[in-house]
Amino acid sequence: MKVTVFGVGYVGLVQAAVLAEVGHQVVCVDIDSEKLEALMQGNIPIYEPGLESLVVENYNSGRLSFSTDAAQGVRHGEVQFIAVGTPSDEIGAADTQYVLQVAETIGQHLERSAVVVNKSTVPVGTADKVANIIHQALRARQRFSDIHCPVVSNPEFLKEGSAVSDCMKPDRIIVGTTDKQAEAVIREIYAPFNRNREKIMVMDERSAELTKYAANCMLATKISFMNEVANLAERLGADIESVRMGIGSDPRIGYHFIYPGVGYGGSCFPKDVQALIHTSSQAGFEPKILQAVESRNRLQKQTLFAKIADYYGRDLKGKTFALWGLAFKPNTDDMREAPARVLMEALWKAGATVQAYDPEAMDEAQRIYGQRSDFRLCGTKEAALSGADALVVVTEWQIFRAPDFDLIGRSLTDRVIFDGRNVYDPARIATRGLNYYSVGRAPVIIDAFADHLVSEAV
Ligand code: UDX
Repeated sequence: MKVTVFGVGYVGLVQAAVLAEVGHQVVCVDIDSEKLEALMQGNIPIYEPGLESLVVENYNSGRLSFSTDAAQGVRHGEVQFIAVGTPSDEIGAADTQYVLQVAETIGQHLERSAVVVNKSTVPVGTADKVANIIHQALRARQRFSDIHCPVVSNPEFLKEGSAVSDCMKPDRIIVGTTDKQAEAVIREIYAPFNRNREKIMVMDERSAELTKYAANCMLATKISFMNEVANLAERLGADIESVRMGIGSDPRIGYHFIYPGVGYGGSCFPKDVQALIHTSSQAGFEPKILQAVESRNRLQKQTLFAKIADYYGRDLKGKTFALWGLAFKPNTDDMREAPARVLMEALWKAGATVQAYDPEAMDEAQRIYGQRSDFRLCGTKEAALSGADALVVVTEWQIFRAPDFDLIGRSLTDRVIFDGRNVYDPARIATRGLNYYSVGRAPVIIDAFADHLVSEAV
């Protein structure tokens, strides 16, 4: 089929490449000509396993192309995907202006019937708005006023770091439409991904839009709930990792998304929780659970700094922290809403220096923070330790899981690790003569030095 994808961000680019891979003829349209130029030369703006080869191969085969010419894009597609960004505005609502601009463009240039598919995460009711805009624009062009152009809500559930495989093998394909013709077109386009078992779930547009928010908010709720229980475990002398395994074994709860840590980040959860809070209040409803999820997450992003401040006191002048992990989670270079940012900014404010290492997000950190005398990006995780007083683990990349603890002990002046992801086993750490603070578990305190510092801080 002939497909047009508006927006070559995370969702648009991955979706376009995957659709081309199964044989569709895909044109990607974006206003950022530099980005498109780079893509045509095989330079992918994001780090995502498997994406580069998929884009390059499909571009070379001619099934995937890139253009800034929106009118030509509109004329190409039997199916037109809208996958542009919906950033949070200043009051936390999803800003749909780019989605609505694409709708206007489609209405201005469409010359035959097409199905418009909204992939962007948008407030409930946006599919109706998009349809209105398109039909108004078509009516203004009298010759084309009878064109059939249904708008389908088809939210995306891919995860950063496994976006290609999530898109290739989706758990479910949510299709929000009551138009039978549109449903048939969507079934055809997704047929290669709907083998083995039926994954397509058809519902009305508004339910599809709410499904996306409900999914992300449910997952964020699990995480915030677990972080709350971890805080409680610390105060009650319990071990959150035992509790996690104990509750996860109940299939009604499950093991997924109950890992305590330093709070959720990324481009989806923080934005989507805030957006649903906003949608609720607009509907005259107070979303008490969502508000609590959001506020627990804000507090949780401060817990690593709070532990460091408990240990050293609030004045950290002259202290140097080795920081492992800048990205908001492993296998991505994305630092949007990353807990590492909240921590580093607090450390700098308290006068400390940060020596950071991340397998993928170093360029991104450089781009965000530029040159500063209290921030060094180190080429390896070991180099980050050199001359540091303490180690802080913020992101659970695999390569941080089995480090050389003897080297850590020799490198760190204060022989202390603050672990925001419970990556290490406290019993093992104790045998290495290291002090260790993690989330929701008793600390390992092996020397009087730590006690002395804590009492001073008090
Ligand atoms: C999420 C959804 O999973 C995906 O379906 C949706 O389409 C987009 O948003 P993503 O933001 O890529 O995907 O990351 P995800 O793996 O869900 O992690 C989000 C955040 O939650 C990360 O900061 C992660 O560290 C944190 N997290 C996750 C926890 O703190 N504990 C957990 O148990 C799981």
